[in-house]
Formats: sequence, C-alpha cells, structure tokens
Amino acid sequence: MSEKPKTLVTSASGKTGLHTALQLREREFPVRAFVRRRDHRSEMLERAGAEVFVGDQYALSDMRAAMQGVQRAYQCAPTAPNGLHFNAVFTAAAYEAGIEHVVTLSQWLSSAHHPSLFTREVYLSDILIGMRREMSVTTVNPGWFADNYLMVLDMAAHLGVFTMPLGAGDVKKNAAPSNEDIARVVTAALIDPATHAGQIYRPTGPELLSPNEIADAMGRALGRRVRYLNISERMMVKALKALPPSNYSVAAVTQLALYAEEYRRCTFAVNAPTDHVARIGGCPPQSFEDIVRGTRAARPDLARSAGRSLRAMAGFAKILATPHFDLRRAENARDYVRLSDPTFSQDDPRWSSTHAPALPDIAPVHAA
Ligand SMILES: NC(=O)c1ccc[n+]([C@@H]2O[C@H](COP(=O)([O-])OP(=O)(O)OC[C@H]3O[C@@H](n4cnc5c(N)ncnc54)[C@H](OP(=O)(O)O)[C@@H]3O)[C@@H](O)[C@H]2O)c1
Repeated sequence: MSEKPKTLVTSASGKTGLHTALQLREREFPVRAFVRRRDHRSEMLERAGAEVFVGDQYALSDMRAAMQGVQRAYQCAPTAPNGLHFNAVFTAAAYEAGIEHVVTLSQWLSSAHHPSLFTREVYLSDILIGMRREMSVTTVNPGWFADNYLMVLDMAAHLGVFTMPLGAGDVKKNAAPSNEDIARVVTAALIDPATHAGQIYRPTGPELLSPNEIADAMGRALGRRVRYLNISERMMVKALKALPPSNYSVAAVTQLALYAEEYRRCTFAVNAPTDHVARIGGCPPQSFEDIVRGTRAARPDLARSAGRSLRAMAGFAKILATPHFDLRRAENARDYVRLSDPTFSQDDPRWSSTHAPALPDIAPVHAA
C-alpha cells in the first residue's frame, strides 16, 4: 500500500484538473479524480492509475463521499455559474473530512468589488477556504489562460485572422500560461505543503505579448500569415454564442465580456511575467508559439484545405447572422447580485497592494 497521501482532484476532466491528476500520477501519488461522466478523459485518468469518482461535484453528498480517505485536495470550480456554491460544498466537505492541505484555483483578478459576479465569488471563496487553521491552503491565481486564444485557432488556421476584443494590437498585455504549467504549480504545492502552505502563486507564460505578437506566434506555428483583428465586444459575444465547440453558458459569456475589458485595461500585465512556473513548477514555462505547435500537431483538422476554408467562412457568416445578445438583459434575467459601485481590479487599492512589485525572491523575471 502506498504511504503517500491521497489527493482528490476536482474538475478532473477540465483544463487544469486533468493535467494535475496526470502529473500527480507521474510522481506516483494516489489520486481520486472527480469527473461527472465516463469518457475518453476518464479512461486516460484510469490508464494513468487514478481512481475515477463519477458524481456531481455541486452535491454535498457526492463531495463527502469523494473526500473519504483523502488527505489533500485540488479545489477547482468549473468555469460556470454557481462557483460560490461549488466552493462552499467543497469547503464544508473538506472541513468535515479533516483534509490537511488544499490547493485552490483562484483568479488573477480576485477582488471584493469587481463588476464580475464570478470574480467576487472567487474572492469570497478564498476567504472561506482559509477559515480553518488546521487545514493549510496554497492559492494559485492565474490570469487569462493561453487556452482561451485557442478557441479562435480554427479561424486563424483557415482564414488567417486572430479575432478577439483585446484592444490595441501593439500593446503587450498578457503573458498567458499553458494548462500544463498551471497544473505544474498546483501539483508542486500539493506534493509539498510544508513549503507551499500559505503561499499565493501567479503562474504566467515566459513573456508579455501584444495581440499582434500572439497573431504572429499563431502564424509561425500554423505555417501561414495570421493578422490580429480587434473585434467589438458585441461581435465576441455573438461568436461565443454561435460557434462550436463553445459550451459557455449565458452567465459565463457575460463574465467573459468583463474579463476582456480587464484585458484591454492591461490588468493581466501588472507585474507579469512571474517566475512561478519555473521556480515552483520546476521547468521553464511554455511559450505561446510552442503551445500552438502542440495543438496543431494534435489536430489534423487545422491543416489548410479549400473545404476547411469554406467551412470557416460559413462559420464567420453564421457569427454575423447571429442576433445581437444583450448582456445586461441576460444579467437582469438571471437576477444577478449587483454592486452599485463596482471597481475593476486596478482601481481597487487592496488589489493593487497585493499585486505590487514583488519581494526580491519572487521578482518578475524581466518585467517590461
Ligand atoms: N480560463 C481562464 O482564463 C481562467 C483564468 C483565471 C482563473 N480561471 C479559473 O479556472 C477555473 C476553471 O478551471 P479549469 O479551466 O481548469 O476548469 P474547466 O476546464 O472549466 O473544467 C471544469 C470541469 O468540471 C466538470 N464539471 C462541471 N460540472 C460538474 C459537476 N456538476 N460535477 C462534476 N464535474 C463537473 C466539467 O466536466 P465536462 O468537461 O464533462 O463538462 C469540466 O471538465 C474557474 O474557477 C476560473 O475562475 C480561469
């Protein structure tokens, strides 16, 4: 029987959960992987030696069952509404089960008065999970994932355009981390609580890139010229509603629009890049170009052909034909909790003080 502590990985079929579970298994730590259905991802987890737990991670009874016999856990709320509910269920079950150490996936933007309800809920969740002193916590605060750009990779591959509402093309605004690199930081903190308890990490990619540079990196990896097109928020919302494989809920789309506004305000560039992937995760962060190369290698459908270009054009026409989607109306319809005077992250003095230039041992590698 293994003497290593068992770790529960929630959202184990998701972007960071899957890699966290696989990386823990590479180090031969016992893993229970929480998924909601059996599919190719749960098979991959089982092949790696993880114990797969199928259930509803918003249900307290399932979370209690999943935590039996577990000592450590990765808390990862899905990119979906009701994050605070998920985190309350997780926290209640973790306290009852006497979990010794949790790594929680928070957000770069996490702040108390943010216009995004999701972000305010993350902020509250960070407080909740830290309330029981017997359980140590490491907080991982990534910014805008590199994976988000891959949503529009088909358009780049087949039409030569990188379309996102990121503002001016020549301003360096984000050093996007890969899913694997975020998981490396999470995994390191799960394996060694004595070193990482109480720490906050902000994994980033190796360098700040402008939208034009992101388009150039896509072009080099895809073997064609790709041009950045700064689209309106209205167009982004239509695209998120129109195109597969988007499975974003209406609620998630309303929040993504706010995160795009933070992107245009350069919030993800504040004291980025960090050295946390190299220093905590143990290897240099992946460049965005390498991330796209990896995706291109795994997806033969990104190779150019006349048929695929035509299909991409049809997709573009579908976006244009999609009716306008009123974000404010959607928020009203859901009866969201709203603040009368919200503040974006950089306007919140508390957020700014916690994102102030780092202490010498976590100084940015080469802040621009
Ligand atoms: N994307 C960004 O740029 C960004 C930036 C900063 C922070 N974050 C944070 O990242 C977190 C999301 O992490 P992620 O991207 O690694 O996760 P993710 O890809 O959204 O994965 C969530 C997983 O949870 C599963 N799931 C959903 N509902 C479930 C249920 N009721 N029971 C069991 N499983 C369920 C989903 O299953 P299926 O796949 O089967 O549907 C999915 O695999 C969010 O909390 C967000 O705030 C994201």
